[in-house]
Amino acid sequence: SKAPVRVTVSGAAGQIGYALLFRIASGQMLGADQPVILQLLEIPDEKAQKALGGVMMELEDCAFPLLAGMSAHGDPMTAFKDVDYALLVGARPRGPGMERRDLLSANAQIFTAQGKALNAVANRTVKTLVVGNPANTNAYIAMKSAPDLPAKNFTAMLRLDHNRALSQLAAKTGKAVGEIEKVCVWGNHSPTMYADYRFATVGGQSVKDMIHDDAWNRDVFLPTVGKRGAAIIEARGLSSAASAANAAIDHMHDWALGTNGKWVSMGIPSDGSYGIPEQTIFGFPVTCAGGEYQLVRDLPIDAFSQERINKTLAELEEEKAGVQHLL
Ligand code: NAI
Repeated sequence: SKAPVRVTVSGAAGQIGYALLFRIASGQMLGADQPVILQLLEIPDEKAQKALGGVMMELEDCAFPLLAGMSAHGDPMTAFKDVDYALLVGARPRGPGMERRDLLSANAQIFTAQGKALNAVANRTVKTLVVGNPANTNAYIAMKSAPDLPAKNFTAMLRLDHNRALSQLAAKTGKAVGEIEKVCVWGNHSPTMYADYRFATVGGQSVKDMIHDDAWNRDVFLPTVGKRGAAIIEARGLSSAASAANAAIDHMHDWALGTNGKWVSMGIPSDGSYGIPEQTIFGFPVTCAGGEYQLVRDLPIDAFSQERINKTLAELEEEKAGVQHLL
């Protein structure tokens, strides 16, 4: 049987953590033959650590055969020791009266410290997924704080937007969600993201031709996908946690185990393609194989798409400029 791999989850006692850990431990992320050791990070605060202890009691009570060990941490330097997969979920939420600038700088502190810890103690091949918002900028900060690790090891989660787009397209076309291919989401994980179905197919047929309605794209589809998070908070009274955890599972699963040629969306450091400045963590279409993601290159970008890409890039560049002095 396989040797266990180490998985660190930060924000492990939070909402997403609660929907995520049990699925990692059951094998849904890395496969039914891959034992895992969970290294769970929370703030050192007594209440958070106590809650984390409760989650760990429940993990024990599941008696997962693949769960080869687990530990609780309040310090990233121990939490990331020898880690193979790091899911950075914990972040500072916007408090009452908190300005965007304060939010960015609070998160810059967290992700600088975590990036440095990864740099110092993680496995050199660590695959890092940032979920905590602002996810792209937090991933950028962690990457910049870990100069001894390959930049390509740092990614941000666009997969929830990708999955939301898939389900809206399935509903619109009346097709099964699993039959739709070549959807992608460009840019920032924020309402400015650009979900793009120009290349999408279902059973070899063009989704764009099937829908044949640019106004629906602009006025219904994009706002629905972009504001889905707010719609869920409005309906549930809490932010989306199960679907966010599901997207994190999908992202890591596909990165580690491959997509068999299928496109998925990941926030990855740009290599300069599509006019996106190098190292900006931007949502792109990728395929995954052999534990690596590959950018889908040379797609044509029409005027409408360019305008959308410019807008989400401008937002990201502004966030980046807001934290540059803290790096
Ligand atoms: P939550 O507030 O329920 O849990 C967050 C947990 O992180 C808390 O237990 C907190 O104590 C912990 N935490 C905060 N700072 C930490 C640090 N420095 N180190 C370790 N743990 C820390 O929040 P929830 O619902 O679990 O969401 C987590 C994050 O994910 C939020 O930033 C949210 O905006 C983001 N999110 C991102 C999505 C995406 O698609 N990229 C989708 C949904 C949520």
